[in-house]
Amino acid sequence: MSSLQNDTFLRALMREPVDYTPLWIMRQAGRYLPEYNATRAQAGDFLALCKNPNLATEVTLQPLDRFPLDAAILFSDILTIPDAMGLGLRFTAGEGPKLDHPLRDEASIKALRLPDVNSDLRYVTDAVSQIRRSLNGRVPLIGFSGSPYTLACYMIEGGGSDDFRHIKGMLYARPDLLHHILKVTTQAVISYLNAQIQAGAQAVMVFDTWGGSLSHSAYHEFSLPYLSEIAHGLTRESDGRIVPRIAFTKGGGLWLESMATAGYDALGLDWAIDIGDARKRVGDKVALQGNFDPMALFGSPDAIQQEAARILERFGRGSGHVFNLGHGVSQHTNPDHVAALVDAVHCFSKPYHV
Ligand code: CP3
Repeated sequence: MSSLQNDTFLRALMREPVDYTPLWIMRQAGRYLPEYNATRAQAGDFLALCKNPNLATEVTLQPLDRFPLDAAILFSDILTIPDAMGLGLRFTAGEGPKLDHPLRDEASIKALRLPDVNSDLRYVTDAVSQIRRSLNGRVPLIGFSGSPYTLACYMIEGGGSDDFRHIKGMLYARPDLLHHILKVTTQAVISYLNAQIQAGAQAVMVFDTWGGSLSHSAYHEFSLPYLSEIAHGLTRESDGRIVPRIAFTKGGGLWLESMATAGYDALGLDWAIDIGDARKRVGDKVALQGNFDPMALFGSPDAIQQEAARILERFGRGSGHVFNLGHGVSQHTNPDHVAALVDAVHCFSKPYHV
């Protein structure tokens, strides 16, 4: 496999010196890009696109052809695991994901089986190897998974939720059942991410999108220990290089100190926290990724550049920052505004690295 032409992203995750602050954008391949919508239409629907390695490769590369981003992220979804567990995933236009067989009773919870990553999720690892070949060393490729708690939210609620009453009802009434689901899912995530690493993923990210909906004590019992178990089960090196790990608990800013000891090289930040304060709190334990408000992309290009400059200034000098949004880019975003952000970060960050 060819060597990397741009390893700035991997170096920043390991807090090694870099010439500028690298960036990528959560959901960088998505509906704000007309070329993405065209490929998705060709696939039929979103899930068909995820399951077609040729087309998944095509859309993974689309944002890189438009913007000089410093990493590619596998085009897929976190719900591939519950789908492979037989819970019946559907994406209905405008409604988001739905699982036909949510886990609501003890019998179905006890019957939950690990997916076979080599067959049931083969389309994902095939996409990873094909994307690596197509990237040909341009930038590193990120693999990803949902966190056990976030996956359990969808597996129990059967889709998105405003109040999480089914999973939280289980958490408070039958914590043993929730722990069982989380244990099985943790094993699935470890095998899934290790298969992605084996297929060529050069960094991995665990999305704990809903961990921030938990109480302080519930987060430390139902999300963080499983994130930690995953970190400790992951392959550390591949192709003679460390495979950095990123954990992102959206709304997890209150818990950075405990997250920093969970076995990850970097923590994702949403936009609610000041990145300078976050850096002081985690010290030299981990790098940070974030924390631009995705809605700031609805401002003028000038305002976007000012906001990028502000975040870079708050992080300050030295390595250990991967610039990103604090959550996925909105489908209504103007791609020219993304271009303005990418330029601003590359240009304004240089003085912080001399
Ligand atoms: O970042 C990337 O470019 C990689 C691709 C990626 C997708 N989903 C593609 C996607 C990644 C990393 C994800 C992760 C994901 N999926 C998360 C965690 C991060 C987050 O956003 O909180 C979650 C919770 C999901 C589950 C999911 N998938 C939801 C709730 C939805 C519907 C919401 C929406 O934006 O419509 C999806 C669909 C989805 N996943 C889309 C994309 C590009 C849009 C679907 C489409 O094209 O029709």
